[in-house]
Amino acid sequence: MKIINPEFVKSAHTIEDYPYNHLPEIAFAGRSNVGKSTMINTILNRKGLARTSSKPGHTRSINFFDIDNKFYLVDLPGYGFAKVSEEEKEKWQGLINDYLHYRENLKGIVMIVDARHKPTGQDKMMLNWIREFRIPKIIAATKADKLSNNEKAKQKKVILKTFGLTEEERFTFFSAKTAEGKKDIFSFINQIIK
Ligand code: GTP
Ligand code: MG
Repeated sequence: MKIINPEFVKSAHTIEDYPYNHLPEIAFAGRSNVGKSTMINTILNRKGLARTSSKPGHTRSINFFDIDNKFYLVDLPGYGFAKVSEEEKEKWQGLINDYLHYRENLKGIVMIVDARHKPTGQDKMMLNWIREFRIPKIIAATKADKLSNNEKAKQKKVILKTFGLTEEERFTFFSAKTAEGKKDIFSFINQIIK
């Protein structure tokens, strides 16, 4: 797939803010600082389109990107950042729940975890929501460039086991540094939008 003109459309804080269209949408979910925005930039080959940060908790709204008027990519706010108030956490839950529940355009989710770590309780909660809503998904373990092949084999087992992933549930490693896994994410997106 050739990407010609990906554009940031808007940031949404409520359902009323969602852009109106009939294009299929693929969202990127995961912990704060895991690399959601970086993954979007990597697959689009556009550094800096989705804003990234070394400070966790950067993306606090739902960000919509129009990809050549064919489909949308959506950068979801990250969870699990320790230094947020209860109020902030509830706000996050509300944002994500509303989006999963009401966004008819939503056709697929890339659920991102850190390849180096065991998925957290919140990762499991997020995955279970995706399962409950029956949204097609792929699990992507990112920052794979930070692991050796041995460590990757070990971590893959930990992640599959912690999530209780079945054969039908897709999994891939990913790295923004080496572009590993880019093909898998694209084949997932292609399957969704065709
Ligand atoms: P929030 O918006 O806070 O939820 O974070 P995010 O999930 O969008 O993370 P972001 O893309 O901003 O990346 C966080 C940090 O991880 C940045 O410093 C990135 O450069 C780094 N990073 C992301 N992906 C990779 C990767 O594949 N490899 C390595 N080595 N670093 C990465
Ligand atoms: Mg981000």
